[in-house]
Amino acid sequence: LSSLPKEKGWVASHLYQYQGFWHTSRQLQGVLSCQQGFQAQDTDILLVTTPKSGTTWLKAMLFALVNRAQYPNDITSQQQHPLLANNPHDLVPFLELKLYADNHVPDLTSFTSPRLFSTHLPPLSLPESIKCSACKLVYLCRNPKDTFVSLWHFTNKLRPKDIGTNSLEDTFDRFCRGVSLYGPFWDHVLGYWKESLENPRKILFLKYEEMKEKPDEHLRRIAQFLGYPFSPEEEKLRLVDEILGLCSFDTLSKLEVNKSGQLLSGEEKKTFFRRGEVGDWKNFLSAEMEDRLDQISEQKLHKFGLKF
Ligand code: A3P
Repeated sequence: LSSLPKEKGWVASHLYQYQGFWHTSRQLQGVLSCQQGFQAQDTDILLVTTPKSGTTWLKAMLFALVNRAQYPNDITSQQQHPLLANNPHDLVPFLELKLYADNHVPDLTSFTSPRLFSTHLPPLSLPESIKCSACKLVYLCRNPKDTFVSLWHFTNKLRPKDIGTNSLEDTFDRFCRGVSLYGPFWDHVLGYWKESLENPRKILFLKYEEMKEKPDEHLRRIAQFLGYPFSPEEEKLRLVDEILGLCSFDTLSKLEVNKSGQLLSGEEKKTFFRRGEVGDWKNFLSAEMEDRLDQISEQKLHKFGLKF
């Protein structure tokens, strides 16, 4: 690791660049371990996201979606639904941040098909078996302004107690230069955008804003893509609305299991639920900052037909 380029700043001081993207040293160990050890199965479903783009929400939705046969009736009234007693990150584990973290070799035999895993890895860094197998990837990203603001809040909440907060301005400058967890943000998004255009049966590309606007449409789209479409009977039972209700910010953020305690990886569970809205960036970014992000997006993404 010591030979890799390193960036200064309290979060950034722990960031190392590997295959073009920035990671903490702990993450990087997990990346290397899962690149070597993870064997994807054809029926696996990978949730791939940029940090702070709604991973927790997507995990909840996909878990409820593929396991709905086990909880066939009114999901919200079923006290035994796993989402009511477990944080979504515990139900759909990260490969590099949990299963393969700290050089751990996980025993995945207890996972039943379809196995759900998540990752923030960019396309180039995905384990080879993911690329070679018929497993499917659902990719979720979010506009860079809200992503940045959410990330800034999150990393400040994670900071060691003896270290002060990162200023908005410094963190912003680093984000724009591509130095952020799993950044450059734009390269991550563009990588999956291109892959999804080339291989639309393997990768479904989603945006947080569009999911917030039409969640029912997108849940049906995801179900269709994964090969778990809602039957006419399920539609009659309004299962789509039930899943969306169960996985909503309002429901999940009020559950005791998401309000207190930590994930195994150390983060406070409540830090994954802040506001859950589109456009909160307006409360934090100046006009200059807005311009700078718009310009980068225009330069890097627009020519490929990708806009936020
Ligand atoms: P904000 O910080 O803007 O509120 P991730 O899960 O990838 O870490 O992303 C966290 C962001 O998703 C946070 O955004 C969080 O509030 C939001 N979020 C968490 N659960 C959500 C849900 N059920 N619906 C919509 N947004 C949610």
